[in-house]
Amino acid sequence: MERGGRTLLFALLLLLLLLGGLRRPSSGDAAGPVPLVIWHGMGDSCCNPLSMGYIKKIVEEKIPGIYVLSLKIGSSLIEDMENSYFMNVNNQVKDVCDQLSKDSKLQGGYNAMGFSQGGQFLRAVVQRCPSPPMFNLISIGGQHQGVFGFPHCPGESSRICDWLRKMLDIAYTKAIQQRLVQAQYWHDPVNEEEYRRSSLFLADINQERVINETYKKNLMTLKKFVMVQFLNDTMVDPPVSEWFGYYRSGQTKEIIPLQETTLYTEDRLGLKEMDQAGKLVFLGAEGDHLHFSKEWFFKNIVPFLQ
Ligand SMILES: *[C@@H]1O[C@H](CO)[C@@H](O)[C@H](O)[C@H]1NC(C)=O
Ligand SMILES: *[C@@H]1O[C@H](CO)[C@@H](O)[C@H](O)[C@H]1NC(C)=O
Repeated sequence: MERGGRTLLFALLLLLLLLGGLRRPSSGDAAGPVPLVIWHGMGDSCCNPLSMGYIKKIVEEKIPGIYVLSLKIGSSLIEDMENSYFMNVNNQVKDVCDQLSKDSKLQGGYNAMGFSQGGQFLRAVVQRCPSPPMFNLISIGGQHQGVFGFPHCPGESSRICDWLRKMLDIAYTKAIQQRLVQAQYWHDPVNEEEYRRSSLFLADINQERVINETYKKNLMTLKKFVMVQFLNDTMVDPPVSEWFGYYRSGQTKEIIPLQETTLYTEDRLGLKEMDQAGKLVFLGAEGDHLHFSKEWFFKNIVPFLQ
């Protein structure tokens, strides 16, 4: 009896040793490429072969062995696409944090790349969910100060477009805030008080109501925060929001760069400190919203994925 027990113990120990020796290195070991998490834009889905599917494919070609997770919000592609219009963004961010924390391939850390609104959504992820750690955040046409206008309808050059955006007071009603994604980053520069009070998502992550020191601390853990602005963007009003600039408060004509916003001068989010440390990268791409070539992507973006 005792001898059998000892033999069993010995066999078990041997097995453990063998398993230990054979254990494959987990991803996240310094040797393998850093995984990449992608968040698509409005009206898109995780896996469209012409958009995110294509990006995933060319990244995998360029960086052999890389793990690329293209985020899906919901249980099907249709739901994923619908949620990009109609699901409370704070709940989407929560869902993504949950997905990331459960993904064993990401536990050593990852880089993140957001397209259009996916850019500001991934910024919320790094600010709210420090584990697993995000290394570089690449925002491709993300609207970090929100939008004030409709796609292809630049307010400053058309009276109808200007009127339309001024009529959109309902963007800040509770019912619309909770149901329409784009209203959650609608930013009316003439009505900053209302924006501060009612914007469910953007005013929160941009520290407009209270300063959450955790947001600041978490954002500052990024190695690089890369922001791409499309220099001929007709979808985003104003395009400088893609570089974290915006309309000067109180009017809708003059735009100011990030460095002149109070968010920066008061350093409510750590952006000034990051800028001075060389962590902010501002890239300009010629072309309309999300229009770029494979060559441009390889030359300007891929270096931040390695
Ligand atoms: C600050 O953000 C963290 C992370 O999302 C959250 O847990 C905490 O409740 C927030 N604190 C305040 C005062 O909002
Ligand atoms: C795009 O914008 C850049 C910078 O503002 C400008 O130099 C260029 O002419 C524009 N290109 C087109 C096609 O409008």
